[in-house]
Amino acid sequence: MVIVKVKPIPFHFHSIPLRTPTPQAALLPHTNGAKLGGAAARAQSGGGRGCTMAGLARRGGAALARALERRGMCSAAAAAAALTSEELMRMERERSAHNYHPIPVVFSKGEGSHILDPEGNKYIDFLSAYSAVNQGHCHPEVLRALTEQAERLTLSSRAFYNDKFPIFAEYLTSMFGYEMMLPMNTGAEGVETALKLARKWGYEKKKIPKNEALIVSCCGCFHGRTLGVISMSCDNDATRGFGPLVPGHLKVDFGDIDGLEKIFKEHGDRICGFLFEPIQGEAGVIIPPDGYLKAVRDLCSRHNILMIADEIQTGIARTGKMLACDWENIRPDVVILGKALGAGVVPVSAVLADKDIMLCIKPGEHGSTFGGNPLASAVAVASLKVVTDEGLVERAAKLGQEFRDQLQKVQQRFPQIIREVRGRGLLNAVDLSNEALSPASAYDICIKLKERGVLAKPTHDTIIRLAPPLSISPEELAEASKAFSDVLEHDLPQMQKQIKKTEPAAEKQVCDRCGRDLYG
Ligand SMILES: Cc1ncc(COP(=O)(O)O)c(C=O)c1O
Repeated sequence: MVIVKVKPIPFHFHSIPLRTPTPQAALLPHTNGAKLGGAAARAQSGGGRGCTMAGLARRGGAALARALERRGMCSAAAAAAALTSEELMRMERERSAHNYHPIPVVFSKGEGSHILDPEGNKYIDFLSAYSAVNQGHCHPEVLRALTEQAERLTLSSRAFYNDKFPIFAEYLTSMFGYEMMLPMNTGAEGVETALKLARKWGYEKKKIPKNEALIVSCCGCFHGRTLGVISMSCDNDATRGFGPLVPGHLKVDFGDIDGLEKIFKEHGDRICGFLFEPIQGEAGVIIPPDGYLKAVRDLCSRHNILMIADEIQTGIARTGKMLACDWENIRPDVVILGKALGAGVVPVSAVLADKDIMLCIKPGEHGSTFGGNPLASAVAVASLKVVTDEGLVERAAKLGQEFRDQLQKVQQRFPQIIREVRGRGLLNAVDLSNEALSPASAYDICIKLKERGVLAKPTHDTIIRLAPPLSISPEELAEASKAFSDVLEHDLPQMQKQIKKTEPAAEKQVCDRCGRDLYG
């Protein structure tokens, strides 16, 4: 063997010639800064491909061009930093796919349970990015972990080891009591991973005949947006126009243990997993009957079927327990975590299982470039530490009860409008009567809540989910309950006068897959 000796090159971080951004681009905030900066810089210098203000406007930088013009061609950085909420929303509508219907408010700064918009208006966040920000916005301990790690190493890929991922894996598995974990990034990827793992286990361990494995999931479920995941969805908006869906799925009503037993008896030899949310979040914070999770555990064990809990929204202290499955003290075979695992700072998801299941996946059979990256690993450990150090489980349980008590008082004042207040911990929902709201909707209520400084988002037409960061104060919860009451007392009657009555949709909202009345 010939060993060629290579003289090492002295490594100085600052001697590497970097592609220097335009001064404007360097100053622009957020990830799209460079792009806007480039366009804006060309507009300013008049250089490049037809780079006049009119040219920029023609090519679609219209909102930025107008903002620059209004500010007398001041620097692009200053213009971008001073863009108003209206301008930013218009820019987003022009330049980004319309796959969301946001409440018209622009987040510019976040701290704990508070949000500031570009105009400096302050709001209390009652969505927490769909429960991704349980620890509160920009938690200092999580940011410290982020910045310290960002200066050392951000990505190794799993082609190599890094010195943070093993610590994350060790921390997570001991915290939740599983032998192994598999890291991914988004929640939907975590669910895909769990489904693939279940199929692999089904073929290798349960000896299901090739390509015949089935997964059972619940009507009304939400597990994300990938093709494999929407193939289980009961939401017509999520599935229509995206076929053919992935086969191998069976549906059962959420909470219906007899229905599940029937399916297991009929198809049990080919079923590898039952995927469920312990509380259905997107469906409107639907809590199953007492004893359901225990009964599912028994059935899965009896039929040798993996019990797969999607705790992406319900996990990590949200419901007043570390996992929502802890409410019935059951241990699923597979647990999927996401969202608050990264404290809303970076996307981190993970699948937990014991070796007997996890080792069914071999090198090369599944993975992700970013899964297990050192930055996300450092952030995840810090995020989990915050949950324990700040007693967020107990906090969610206590404050959640107080909040529901307050909301129930509002319900007593408006029994014809509020059908139900329900939830666990700080995952709560107010279920409104369609008839009493009409012609206004839950969305209109959320707009008025926003005007009173409370940010919430409806789920379906009549349900408002209220899930603030777990660091929220009792005073802020009381403020939100008062805002809710004020909206119903003062704003709703006005809206009902102003909004034009439309004919109710003739078509019944029935799920394409299971025939269930979607909003009945
Ligand atoms: C229960 C559940 N599973 C999966 C997902 C998908 O997570 P992500 O949006 O990170 O892909 C969500 C998102 O809301 C969720 O609530």
